[in-house]
Amino acid sequence: MNWNCILERVAETHSTNDDLLARWRLGSLIDPVARIARNQTNGKGRAGRSWVAKPEDSLCFSLAYPFKRSPAELSGLSLVTGLAVITGLSEVLNLTKSELYTNGVRLKWPNDLLLKQKKFGGILIEGGQRKAEENTWMIIGIGLNLRNATKFESELKGQENKKVAALNELPLGAEQLPEVDFLWLKLIESLEKYLRKFDVEGFSSFLEEWQGWDAYVGENVCISGIGKNPIEGIAIGVDTNGALLIQQNNKVVSILAGDVSLRGQS
Ligand code: BTN
Repeated sequence: MNWNCILERVAETHSTNDDLLARWRLGSLIDPVARIARNQTNGKGRAGRSWVAKPEDSLCFSLAYPFKRSPAELSGLSLVTGLAVITGLSEVLNLTKSELYTNGVRLKWPNDLLLKQKKFGGILIEGGQRKAEENTWMIIGIGLNLRNATKFESELKGQENKKVAALNELPLGAEQLPEVDFLWLKLIESLEKYLRKFDVEGFSSFLEEWQGWDAYVGENVCISGIGKNPIEGIAIGVDTNGALLIQQNNKVVSILAGDVSLRGQS
């Protein structure tokens, strides 16, 4: 690793995102910080949901990263983060990207990692720019299910109608999943490469790569958001800003935020 990333490992905290957000608000972040917790007592998911994780079966960490870009120019960040996670997983699990693809790994706009249409990971991005002349600090929270997907599924019942997967469902051969710390370090290494390039070049350099992992391209989807009427149409990919493109009859609508589901499912 050739960057000054501070690595922090804690046994327990409320939320690694909240920990780093508090430091960003105080203006005390200087170098990138990656913070991993074995247990989160108040893990956060997107849209005010909670994130269910288990010390033995999950990887939960956040990375605070300073961007030169303004917050408005970071709209594709969660998509680029998904690509960085896939690349890191490919290296650490000794599976090529094409093997990951064949086994059903996909990205669901804007922030989910899927395995055979079931979610095994999520990304929560918070932060911003305190003053115009300062860096934009983004807190990138990543949660991955490592094993025992059924345990997660039973806990999520009633909360979300989501099917859950875990990384150990990939064909790992004789080698089982590596130690969490090793997995974490490899993901940070990959994130560093992707985020550095993203800060210089923007999302357009990643557009093609992202479309290659798009879980819902060509599918009939429904996008819901808090306080908004659902939008339905056919998902046709993303634009150069990372916005989701939906074909509706003869027009294309671009969506900046929301939850996507296949039509007929929630
Ligand atoms: C989602 O899919 O809803 C996003 C889940 C993000 C979970 C991670 S775990 C590490 C970090 N700390 C949190 O409280 N949340 C993120």
